[in-house]
Amino acid sequence: MTSVRFRSVSKRFGALVALDSLDLDIEAGEFVSLLGPSGSGKSTTLNLLAGLQEADEGEIWVGDRLVNGVSPDKRDIAMVFQSYALYPHMTVFENIAFPLRARRPRVPEAEIEKLVVRVADLLGLGELLARYPKELSGGQQQRVALGRAMIRDPKVFLLDEPLSNLDARLRMRMRHDLKSLHQRIQSTIVYVTHDQAEAMSMSSRIAVFNKGKLQQYASPHEIYHQPANTFVANFVGDREITFVDGRVEMLAGEVQFAAGEFNLPLLAETMDFSRIAGRHVRMGLRMESLRITEQSGSRAIAATVTQTEPSGPDLVVFASAPGGAELCCRAEAGARIAIGDRVNLELVPEHVHFFDPATGNSIAADIHSHPDRSLGGRTMASNNQ
Ligand SMILES: Nc1ncnc2c1ncn2[C@@H]1O[C@H](COP(=O)(O)OP(=O)(O)OP(=O)(O)O)[C@@H](O)[C@H]1O
Ligand SMILES: [Mg+2]
Repeated sequence: MTSVRFRSVSKRFGALVALDSLDLDIEAGEFVSLLGPSGSGKSTTLNLLAGLQEADEGEIWVGDRLVNGVSPDKRDIAMVFQSYALYPHMTVFENIAFPLRARRPRVPEAEIEKLVVRVADLLGLGELLARYPKELSGGQQQRVALGRAMIRDPKVFLLDEPLSNLDARLRMRMRHDLKSLHQRIQSTIVYVTHDQAEAMSMSSRIAVFNKGKLQQYASPHEIYHQPANTFVANFVGDREITFVDGRVEMLAGEVQFAAGEFNLPLLAETMDFSRIAGRHVRMGLRMESLRITEQSGSRAIAATVTQTEPSGPDLVVFASAPGGAELCCRAEAGARIAIGDRVNLELVPEHVHFFDPATGNSIAADIHSHPDRSLGGRTMASNNQ
């Protein structure tokens, strides 16, 4: 178990800044995901840590050791890639044992046997040791690749999109398995993915990247509930978030969100919206930010249903608001709601996110009336989308 630290680490490829002054602390034993869209700098970060590329600036620490300039094989780090090449002519046993066989002085055969069996048992491969890779499912092959990394007993595991070649069901299963594996072996894991659900389900903390810049580094809960900016808010969650621009105004003795086509009261126990009265804001709405209500008129949005989507226990309702915003909320699975129906939607202010339209940064800290109770989210960068 070892900690990892990036201190102002930058990497350029010609004129392109692949990684821009990254500061990141990973505690020993953490499972940290690097999450972001294609080209955001995730693999670059991992490659710099593994020593496959060298940083242009900054320091990288593994435990109390500065590893800039240290060759990959001396860093005590194991990496599993998306394309986990197993040796086709070797059995599962030999594939896992491979790193030990390459070791000098030689590792005694009995010791190799003991270690391989232990790792195979941890990964549920005990029965498959005599098979060849072509006789395994994708998920089993993936676990063999993991086993080959684990056998070295590295201080840190780096996994770069290791599940992306697997089908959806198997990915879910592997997520679960990886998480319990981590609980058992307690190693430090740095996991690269562009799949937010994967990152949310496994990580102790998530580092969200965009265009080479760290946007936010926090727990999955915080990333989802207190996104630092519009980029993070839109990138996490199962569906895209809807943004609506408007102004916070005092109307009829009440704080309201005025979007031109509709006004909505802003009232929540833990928030004081009067603090941002007069400001232009960008409101971010997820499914849970709205609910269908009986009340109409000035306290709800009269929207027209454009689509419904059964989703297990819920019915997801898509509706278009006056002014054109596409909204979405949940209804009960059996609800009689059809395309073309009018529904009244009210805000659930606790689940609405507010941003500065100019910078895209969250303004939650300005609204929250108990700042020390829940707002630990650190804003790392404005996103200027
Ligand atoms: N060896 C290289 N030479 C030139 N440009 C590179 C090189 N490696 C990466 N880049 C560029 O650096 C940026 C960051 O790349 P990186 O591989 O870190 O992205 P990523 O977040 O891992 O994306 P993906 O999800 O597609 O794997 C990209 O714009 C990429 O094109
Ligand atoms: Mg990558």
